[in-house]
Amino acid sequence: MSDSVATITGEDGKSAELPLLRGTHGPVVADVRGLRKETGLFTYDPGFASTASCKSSITYIDGAEGILLYRGYPIEQLAEHSSYLEVCYLLMYGELPTPAQMTSFEDIITNHTMVHENIRSFLNGFRYDAHPMAMMVGTVGAMSSFYHDSTDINNPEHREISAQRLIAKMPTLAAYCYNHHTGRPFLYPDNSLGYVANFTRMMFGVPAEEYKPDPTVVAALELIMLLHADHEQNASTSTVRLTGSSGANPFASIAAGIASLWGPAHGGANESVINMLDAILYSGETIEQTIARAKDKNDPFRLMGFGHRVYKNFDPRAKLIQKMCHDLLQQLGGDQPLFELAMELEKATLADEYFVERKLYPNVDFYSGIILRALDIPMNMFTVMFAMSRTVGWISHWMEMHEDPEFRIGRPQQVYTGAARRDYPTNT
Ligand code: CMC
Repeated sequence: MSDSVATITGEDGKSAELPLLRGTHGPVVADVRGLRKETGLFTYDPGFASTASCKSSITYIDGAEGILLYRGYPIEQLAEHSSYLEVCYLLMYGELPTPAQMTSFEDIITNHTMVHENIRSFLNGFRYDAHPMAMMVGTVGAMSSFYHDSTDINNPEHREISAQRLIAKMPTLAAYCYNHHTGRPFLYPDNSLGYVANFTRMMFGVPAEEYKPDPTVVAALELIMLLHADHEQNASTSTVRLTGSSGANPFASIAAGIASLWGPAHGGANESVINMLDAILYSGETIEQTIARAKDKNDPFRLMGFGHRVYKNFDPRAKLIQKMCHDLLQQLGGDQPLFELAMELEKATLADEYFVERKLYPNVDFYSGIILRALDIPMNMFTVMFAMSRTVGWISHWMEMHEDPEFRIGRPQQVYTGAARRDYPTNT
């Protein structure tokens, strides 16, 4: 993996030879691990845009070309041929399952969908108007108190069973957070249903009536979940790795990831898209005025659902759901003024020099926010659904980290800019 070196010389003339690493795809990477020891220098990289924190074989993104691969497979091919659970298997174990492996994996996940009864009492402790994401952070963290038998992070079997439990229970927890929030009854999972249909039943079903999953809703959610399953070292995944690097148990580590995902610059963006569109409609502002505000450097307003740290081309996930979004809006009708505004905004930004120059395309959250709204998924559940989909990515990275012989506790450096050393004033 390393074939040549870059040399860096510090102020005192001491130099370090930095080995160059090459991954399967992607740019050449200078290995700076020896830099501090050999020269006293370290690197400054706010936002970590030039820093690889680990080696990973799970997901590859080429932001310039708009490429996303899960374990080497293009996202477009997985979206066409695979199911969400098959993608979970692929991300966790590295290969597509054989039919027997898939059946066994589905059985395991299906058999772990229930949660301990006390989790329901735990949820009832939240205020009636608690945001489902706040409940998810707390409840997933609390799960560690229910599984003391399987949180030995040094035991590969414990790691695997925790991963399976998390994938299996996340839809149940997500639905229960919504049920608590809306005062609906908690339904037990129905293991005769598929992963996504089981989730929609727990969320929208009632004990008094038989629930029939809507195939349009299930197919749309299945695709949205598959597209959100992993995205290499984004903020929440890096949070899971950093949290887990101290030896924290998997439930605590995933809870930290959920907290990170909640922010509007990350997974909270799909909810922010709808809030933004609602606010524009309410204010009566024109598209031109909205775009002008987004471009104004004195105004903190940004167009939610536009731009991406990594994709400086159309986000391939956005491409895949853009068509579904347009089709569903035609098919389902619904909140027409909001949908029309979204489509106008999409058109206007794609033709606007500011957005074109900066390569700020509509991202996956722009379309997923609109699709979820068209499917009547409550807005405060949007980011919860993202968390549910991303759990497999987080836990696959957490498992990979624990298998990596080079892994150490994460501990970034800083450039100290505070007061120089000074004495406590003793004169009165
Ligand atoms: N609206 C208006 N201007 C923008 C936007 C936006 N949404 N995003 C970036 N810019 C401008 C920014 O002002 C800067 O302009 P200039 O070069 O003149 O200073 C330039 O584009 C580059 O922006 P940046 O802040 O350096 O880009 P970043 O890589 O740090 O930020 C981002 C990426 C996603 C946080 C940002 O584009 C953003 O805030 N977008 C809106 C929130 C959003 O949709 N987030 C979801 C991301 S996709 C889901 C996920 O992976 O979690």
